[in-house]
Amino acid sequence: MAALRVLVIPGSARAGSYNLKLANAAAAVLREQGAEATVTDLRALALPIYDGDLEAGTGVPEGAKTLVRELAAHDAVLVVSPEYNAFPPPLLMNAIDWASRLPEHKAAMGGKPTALLSASPGALGGLRSLLSLRQFLALNPGMLVLPQQLTVARAAEAFGADGALADPKQQAALQAVLVALLQTAKALRASSPSS
Ligand SMILES: Cc1cc2nc3c(=O)[nH]c(=O)nc-3n(C[C@H](O)[C@H](O)[C@H](O)COP(=O)(O)O)c2cc1C
Repeated sequence: MAALRVLVIPGSARAGSYNLKLANAAAAVLREQGAEATVTDLRALALPIYDGDLEAGTGVPEGAKTLVRELAAHDAVLVVSPEYNAFPPPLLMNAIDWASRLPEHKAAMGGKPTALLSASPGALGGLRSLLSLRQFLALNPGMLVLPQQLTVARAAEAFGADGALADPKQQAALQAVLVALLQTAKALRASSPSS
């Protein structure tokens, strides 16, 4: 069986982003598990804030088409996102909003196994935002959002020099989420008619 491909989507493109660090730590675990991991860059998609007049005038931007193509080319998705005011950030929501304007997003995202992680310098690690992010991704794009998730609180102190989570228990919890994601993707691939 070909290696499972996981698209890792950090919800922050900030230099020094804790969520990007967590995304890279997760990608390393996914590769150790034999999967391919692509860490995407939402900022590079250069998407304007969604605007219906813009869409009517010039269509859906190329960056949204790129994102949908990337989603289609992967077996599973890992979203690693900050919390802004108890909610997922606009960089992430806006990219999904644009993607959802393309009819092919249903095939690219519907039923796709998806796991959620978040990191924050605060005490809750972004936990509140994962509630609405779970709803957002599951309801329209119809992503199969796993119950397993991980939040990394006090993120400024959470990473070791090697980029992994410094607390072995937390690193094991990260691995457990990712193994569940790969197992789900593997089972779905095995049950698909084209496999
Ligand atoms: C507009 C805004 C709202 C924020 N709201 C929250 C919040 O509700 N909960 C939280 O834990 N951190 C909040 N933060 C702090 C972020 O967790 C922090 O900036 C974090 O470093 C962002 O993620 P990043 O490091 O991946 O860029 C907020 C930050 C900004 C800029």
